Amino acid sequence: MRRLLIAGNWKMNCGPYDAAELLEGLKAKKSEVNENVDVLVCPPFVSIGMAVKYLYDTDIQVGAQNLHFEENGAFTGEISGSMLTESGCNYVIIGHSERRQYFGETDETVNQRTKKALEHKLAPIICVGESLSQRKADEHYDLVKDQITNALNGVSAEEVLDIVIAYEPIWAIGTGETASPEQAQEMHEHIRNVVANLYSQDAADSINILYGGSMKPANAQELLSQADVDGGLIGGASLDADSFSEIITIAEELA
Ligand code: PGA
Repeated sequence: MRRLLIAGNWKMNCGPYDAAELLEGLKAKKSEVNENVDVLVCPPFVSIGMAVKYLYDTDIQVGAQNLHFEENGAFTGEISGSMLTESGCNYVIIGHSERRQYFGETDETVNQRTKKALEHKLAPIICVGESLSQRKADEHYDLVKDQITNALNGVSAEEVLDIVIAYEPIWAIGTGETASPEQAQEMHEHIRNVVANLYSQDAADSINILYGGSMKPANAQELLSQADVDGGLIGGASLDADSFSEIITIAEELA
């Protein structure tokens, strides 16, 4: 039985002061979480320390939004896997569409980052998903299959058990548009089949596949009730303690 994972992606929001306020609110509402649900917040790098400090006595874990694929050295502006584990992270988001769109992230760098995260025992949350034009051209299934196949190139059958995949249709991110529960389920099932074909049905059955794209309290129940939707990667609604904790409560009721 898969546990549900509710992950907040704060994106470029909340420096340490705002983070402290948001974390206070979240802690007041949800410091204990049902054992069948994992909860995670991914603040910007500069607020990771604040989050770890605030959340150490709660069931809420801390992750990062990116990592570099080299170990250390002359890579100005980058953050390594060991820095993240040392800071208290146990997850890292990789290949978010905003990074692919604005910062030159490719399937190849997603693969390099994934392998580096696994080396450091950081669970990679690998983001995949299509644009509206790709969906209209009926390319979305092939595209997502390629994104996953490339991201997992060289990842062993043992390592794959630690990965999380987030399906984030680009047309639903930050737009208020959501994939319908049926659209989400269809793609999640496809993703699980891709993993089954690459590895095994057991591996596919054990990994978490999250939905991302305007998940909020009003639609979380329908989305999280789908057989292959194992949680959410939540942007906007994770910046509000009430909304985020409401989504966690919905997940607890379903778990
Ligand atoms: P959103 O973002 O919930 O604001 O649409 C989701 C994401 O990009 O992870």
